Amino acid sequence: MASASSGLAFNLSSFSKSNFLSSSDLNSNQILSLFELAKQLKIGNRRIDLGNRVLGLIFTKASTRTRVSFQVAMARLGGQTVDLNPQVTQLGRGEPIRDTARVLSRYCDVLAIRTFSQKELEEYAEWSTIPVINALTDLEHPCQALADYLTIQEKFGELKGLNLSYIGDGNNVANSLMICGAMLGVNVEICSPNGFEVDSNIVEKAKTLNEFGSKISICNDPSKAVKDAQVIYTDVWASMGQEEEILKRKEIFKKYKVDQKLIDLADDEVMLLHCLPAHRGEEITEEALEGRNSCVFNQAENRLHVQQALLAVQLGGL
Ligand code: CP
Ligand code: NVA
Repeated sequence: MASASSGLAFNLSSFSKSNFLSSSDLNSNQILSLFELAKQLKIGNRRIDLGNRVLGLIFTKASTRTRVSFQVAMARLGGQTVDLNPQVTQLGRGEPIRDTARVLSRYCDVLAIRTFSQKELEEYAEWSTIPVINALTDLEHPCQALADYLTIQEKFGELKGLNLSYIGDGNNVANSLMICGAMLGVNVEICSPNGFEVDSNIVEKAKTLNEFGSKISICNDPSKAVKDAQVIYTDVWASMGQEEEILKRKEIFKKYKVDQKLIDLADDEVMLLHCLPAHRGEEITEEALEGRNSCVFNQAENRLHVQQALLAVQLGGL
């Protein structure tokens, strides 16, 4: 009879050497197996030594959690990271991605890239001969969504049938939450002001991936959205690259603030998540972020465990 760990390896082995550019690059079985591996790594039940492999980090935007959790994950796997920020490489002086990707593929074993356009990320993936990971683009933040659903699974056990309400900007975080949630059987509602809804193409994509029949919807009324929610999620009103819109957005989004009054409309045990960094007083109040429903620091910690599992799989460590 196959053991649980051989089933996990079976589900994940086909992902070895694969890119992770979108939440949809993993299927539901692979995501759940990745969560099992992440939980084993988290409690110290499993050690994986990849033997001095190297992760290149190309970050054109700021980062605390993603950068550091990748660095620590790689260290725990016996590997190393190199910082390849455009300011200190020839990328910043205009060397094309197609040349950079081919050169870095000769030095590194995997690349994690944080940049603006998804197209640019895809260009790296096209020219690299090593796996490429999306460490956030304007379109998606798939590593974040993995950590989010792992955190939700740790609290609720079964993900299928849960209701997650995301309140705020229909941004990269919302897109990945919706796609990943659809694959896992979570009912995802994205509640945004008019004109700031998630991309309709992403909604359609999520709907085609909901093999367990989860409900994917968008709305504009935060009070209605949270009523039956087991999870309330929010993110900043202006993402990196939209800083000049913040004053305008503060006015448009003011009814979309997650505060204790909104949380009290949901179940007493509702879980409050935020990918961080949070802007207290804007999308979330201090009271809500520090309150009893908030799980944001468990959520941030899970970035490490799930990315360690992802790297182990991509680098053939199972
Ligand atoms: N949540 C997240 O991606 O945080 P950083 O921007 O600090 O990496
Ligand atoms: N939506 C935010 C997420 C930061 C982790 C941004 O893109 O800036």
